[in-house]
Amino acid sequence: GVGHGERLRMIMFGKPGAGKGTLSSRLVKKYDIVSLSTGDLLRQHIAEKTEVGMMAEEIVAAGGLLPDEIMLKVVTSKLDLLHNKHWILDGFPRTLGQGKVLDEHLSRQGTPMSLVLNLDVPDEVILGRISDRWVHLPSGRVYNLSYNPPKVAGHDDETGEPLTKRPDDNPEIFARRLEQFYTSTSPLLAYYDGRTTSDAATKLVTLTGRTSDEIWPQLETVIHTSFPMVKERQESKR
Ligand code: AP5
Repeated sequence: GVGHGERLRMIMFGKPGAGKGTLSSRLVKKYDIVSLSTGDLLRQHIAEKTEVGMMAEEIVAAGGLLPDEIMLKVVTSKLDLLHNKHWILDGFPRTLGQGKVLDEHLSRQGTPMSLVLNLDVPDEVILGRISDRWVHLPSGRVYNLSYNPPKVAGHDDETGEPLTKRPDDNPEIFARRLEQFYTSTSPLLAYYDGRTTSDAATKLVTLTGRTSDEIWPQLETVIHTSFPMVKERQESKR
């Protein structure tokens, strides 16, 4: 049967703007992994004006967090469909409550969390990036005018569709998101750190760097050494 550790269950953890989305797409492009971003999911709900979207719009725009019950519903229904895949969660869990319920859910499935990747990027580096960020809403693809600009200014590389600014990417709201991170999200690190010494075998790895180009090779080493069952995609173009 399928034993523990045969499926990658990874959390991309870090401050807003730390590069979670950027590194997740890099992993998905090269390896046989899927990624689920709760920020992208919520932005799609908002664009489609679903019930969740109506509720999320104001909260996201103000830099707050949605209630745990709503987020758990949004996430677990998706995760159940990805049971046989290696996956990354980007932007979830974001509170201790979310983390605990996620653990219960995964232990019922028999595939416990295997890796928590903590991206440690200084606040001042992040603040400088946000004003340069543009996104392609339907796919969640992220661009940065100085770091990874689109091939054609203002347009998505793959579809040619227009890029937009996120309404929560202005300095005041961003400060609020950073504050939310410190109060509600960062306590999760101690929680996962405690688990690494229990029998749950969750690996907590902190990667430090000012750029994703410093972080990327370290990340690949973690995957190769600790999760050799994760294979490169055949069509990988690097
Ligand atoms: P979400 O979309 O998850 O926002 P976030 O966590 O604030 O993260 P970001 O998307 O801002 O940043 P990122 O770390 O992915 O960085 P990126 O790769 O884009 O959530 C949005 C909102 O939804 C929340 O505020 C909340 O309201 C709600 N929400 C979501 N999940 C929730 C949950 N679980 N519970 C409750 N509410 C929830 O990179 C940032 C920029 O830097 C980009 O422009 C990028 O190109 C650039 N960049 C990346 N790497 C580099 C580099 N090495 N050098 C230079 N620039 C770089």
